[in-house]
Amino acid sequence: MSSTINTVAVLGGTGNLGTHIVRALLVGGFTVTILTRSGSTSSKPSFTPYTVTFTEVDYSSPSSLQSAFKGQDAVVSVLATAAVQEQKKIVDAAIAAGVKRFVPSEFGVNTRQKGVEKTKIGELLAGKREVVDYLIQKEGTGLTWTGLSTGFFFESALSNGLTGIDAKNGKATIIDSGTELWPASLQSHIGRAVSEILRHPDLTKNSYLSTASFNVSQNQLLAITEELTGKKLSVTHVDSKDIHKNGEEKLAKGDYSAFVDFLKVHFLADGAGNELKKEESANEKLRLLTEDVRAVVKGWLEEEGLLAA
Ligand SMILES: NC(=O)c1ccc[n+]([C@@H]2O[C@H](COP(=O)([O-])OP(=O)(O)OC[C@H]3O[C@@H](n4cnc5c(N)ncnc54)[C@H](OP(=O)(O)O)[C@@H]3O)[C@@H](O)[C@H]2O)c1
Repeated sequence: MSSTINTVAVLGGTGNLGTHIVRALLVGGFTVTILTRSGSTSSKPSFTPYTVTFTEVDYSSPSSLQSAFKGQDAVVSVLATAAVQEQKKIVDAAIAAGVKRFVPSEFGVNTRQKGVEKTKIGELLAGKREVVDYLIQKEGTGLTWTGLSTGFFFESALSNGLTGIDAKNGKATIIDSGTELWPASLQSHIGRAVSEILRHPDLTKNSYLSTASFNVSQNQLLAITEELTGKKLSVTHVDSKDIHKNGEEKLAKGDYSAFVDFLKVHFLADGAGNELKKEESANEKLRLLTEDVRAVVKGWLEEEGLLAA
């Protein structure tokens, strides 16, 4: 059986990351179908000048999933975090339909990293890890898989405060010393990574890969922001132990916004050690270029109208 992939079904292709992945797949020459939940209220993005097919699927119905997967060489799941548990039955339907490659909704923390399951963030991401465990169990059925960790979505992290840099209000919140390097990816970079994974199915089969546009520290971002805005930011330092404690208190009350606290500690705390090292990076294998963090921040500040005159 040829391993070449031409047709790709994307679940969650209407979402935040999904639209970037769909665009990159279209640019890469794949024929793309976006699967949406029956009754979905997500707006249907346009990919002009490319065309995509939108197909509604009842995720609770194996036959609905199976018929949507007929003729698809690959399934890429970019489902929202809240829906990752749905993926086991989606994997079953993909196998039944003869799909060759499944890319699960990972795209963040490396959930296969040794010991991560014992951390708070790892506990909250158990659902993602179980799906990859399930895909490993299903090797040999004809369905292969590739997982991808990406670090922070950089554009989102800049605008939602995860980086700690609040250029608009002239403030920065720096965790510990602020020197820890952490990986971040532009969503267009992640899209290209998925496209390259599917263009090279033999090179990427049954493996968990990691990519990032760059590694950066909070202090580096602070310096770039101050230089480009021409203004000093008012800096507050916080201890990662206090952030962790805050997360635990929230979790004890059933408040899952604790995820963000644990995410910050996982990546930004002194000694976290989660920068993407060259020998662990799939960038070379996938022929992906790294990006220039200063240029990206400059573009963002310009859009926000915050660049120094
Ligand atoms: N690294 C990071 O910084 C970072 C940040 C955010 C997310 N992520 C990860 O990236 C992946 C995608 O996240 P995202 O933010 O792009 O997702 P999203 O935009 O919130 O949702 C993606 C799509 O999932 C579908 N969906 C939403 N809720 C669902 C539900 N309850 N059941 C089934 N489908 C549902 C919707 O598609 P339809 O309406 O068309 O069905 C939606 O457009 C996730 O694995 C997430 O954990 C990583």
